[in-house]
Amino acid sequence: MNRVKKITCIGAGYVGGPTMSVIAQKNPDVEVTVVDMNQARIAAWNNDDLSQLPIYEPGLDAVVGAARGRNLFFSTDVDKAIQEADMIFISVNTPTKTYGKGKGQAADLKFIELCARQIAEVASTDKIVVEKSTLPVRTAEALKSILDNTGNGVNFHILSNPEFLAEGTAVSDLHNPDRVLIGGESAEAIEALVQVYEAWVPRERIITTNLWSSELSKLVANAFLAQRVSSINAISELCEVTGANVDEVSRAIGQDSRIGSKFLKASVGFGGSCFQKDILNLVYIARSYNLYEVANYWEQVILLNDHQKTRFAEKIIKTMYNTVNGKDIAFLGWAFKKDTNDTRESAAIHVADHLLDEEAHVIVYDPKVTAEQVYRDLDYLGTRSPEDNRRLVKVVNDPYEALDSAHAVAVLTEWDEFKTYDWAKVKAGMKRPSFVFDGRKLLNRKQLEELGFDYYAIGE
Ligand code: NAI
Repeated sequence: MNRVKKITCIGAGYVGGPTMSVIAQKNPDVEVTVVDMNQARIAAWNNDDLSQLPIYEPGLDAVVGAARGRNLFFSTDVDKAIQEADMIFISVNTPTKTYGKGKGQAADLKFIELCARQIAEVASTDKIVVEKSTLPVRTAEALKSILDNTGNGVNFHILSNPEFLAEGTAVSDLHNPDRVLIGGESAEAIEALVQVYEAWVPRERIITTNLWSSELSKLVANAFLAQRVSSINAISELCEVTGANVDEVSRAIGQDSRIGSKFLKASVGFGGSCFQKDILNLVYIARSYNLYEVANYWEQVILLNDHQKTRFAEKIIKTMYNTVNGKDIAFLGWAFKKDTNDTRESAAIHVADHLLDEEAHVIVYDPKVTAEQVYRDLDYLGTRSPEDNRRLVKVVNDPYEALDSAHAVAVLTEWDEFKTYDWAKVKAGMKRPSFVFDGRKLLNRKQLEELGFDYYAIGE
């Protein structure tokens, strides 16, 4: 097969945008067009001011700046981009279903199917269709059936190429991936995609498998990662009642090369658009094959994570004399992790919801998340009216405004800047006793206690 000359990616989100920007940066001879039906998102990708790109990722502005207009384009003309491409990535969202069979567990594949139907309708030349979205194992079978049955008689080769980047480090992960995974049936199609990645990824780090192994590996990778977080979080609760310190336990076990030291940090719980959704999907798939023990095993990872978020909120309430009604609680951070503006499934949302049920006043400061997003996240839960969310929650642009005269501080995201605040000044402005609930184990206990704070950190 000839070298791919034109690539289209459907979906200009957290995955499509950065991934295609790096592919374009590293393959200047390949024309890459990223399309989305969301006009505002595409307009933001085309913004001359690179600080206004629709997603925030360290280093992404430089990559987009280097390639955009040269061989990287963002457009809403999906049909044209499909028509012209040799290779089409599907990078649309695959959220958990909110209706019908599998509600609350299965992946909603309607956006994937719409893409397949549109590709089939428009394509008049052979295409390689690449699953970039995270999909249930055996989705390629359904895709192939739609493409072949509704297409114009052209040939479609389907590849699975799941994305392993982590938000917050997307650009460095893409520049230097641990591995690239490509699953497929056609050796020629696989080779065409290998060539794209080989522009910067050493060949030995490009793993090729059959379609089903590739599709399943992405779900399994996220399940294993999330399972480590839930495992250490389970131990954090045990540490709190036994006098052990979870950081010391992490260090002690992480030195064992069979266990490894990464992803062993206890916290208020994992968030993000992927871990929960992908495990729920894995659980659903296992149940659909009647593998109940397998399903129950993985479901526990989610249950423990929910417990950790609830436990944190309840710790705040209990410590503050069993009532937070009318008390000001400053939230440092709303994003699900540092260095991203993504708030999907953020632990902050669930902790806030719990405290708002108790009529607490929550004042949110996050360096990258807008007030509109905070209210959207809370309104989406449907726990209370939008008016009540606005009555109880305030979002500010200055951290000291959030902290001033607060009864308590809750650290929900591990943004580095929180460590650099003038905590003596914060203490002077806060109500007494001045509580700090560190959901990320970010701040310095000794320093804060010397300043007179009542400091609580998970797992200590
Ligand atoms: P996203 O929601 O940020 O972006 C998806 C985009 O697709 C949206 O802008 C939406 O408007 C667009 N879209 C949906 N249907 C369309 C259609 N028919 N035509 C044109 N545009 C359409 O989602 P994100 O985070 O980029 O995730 C995409 C996929 O990648 C998901 O399957 C996710 O599980 C997976 N993934 C996400 C990672 C992450 O860190 N966010 C990491 C690895 C995989």
